[in-house]
Amino acid sequence: MVYLTRREHFNAAHKLYNHSWSREKNEEVFGKCANENWHGHNYELLVTVKGNPDPDTGFLFDVKRLSNIIREHATEKLDHKNLNVDVEFMEGQMCSTENLAIAIWKQIEPHIPSPVKLHCIKLYETPRIYVEYFGE
Ligand code: NI
Repeated sequence: MVYLTRREHFNAAHKLYNHSWSREKNEEVFGKCANENWHGHNYELLVTVKGNPDPDTGFLFDVKRLSNIIREHATEKLDHKNLNVDVEFMEGQMCSTENLAIAIWKQIEPHIPSPVKLHCIKLYETPRIYVEYFGE
């Protein structure tokens, strides 16, 4: 089994705010991310697929094709957008990095053709904070 990763990038705005809570509680739980007038992140997205190399090419998967899948179904819908209001697949969810990684998995996974499988969505919100999602 070999693991192949493609790295992509997008910028997006969001805020973390639970409307059933008071402003004080939102500020206490979410800190700066509760800022009413939004803020942005430079997200780094690493998508890892797994499988065995094709005997004819030696490749696991065409990286250009992988990049196109990620762009078409994830980053083009996210880049320079407000995650809370512009992105259909984040509708009704808290726009945390955790939920965003799960949503990106759901966007990409159906487009990875068998026998190659999606292994991991790794999403950096800052250079020092990232989440990983393995589909469960
Ligand atoms: Ni934030």
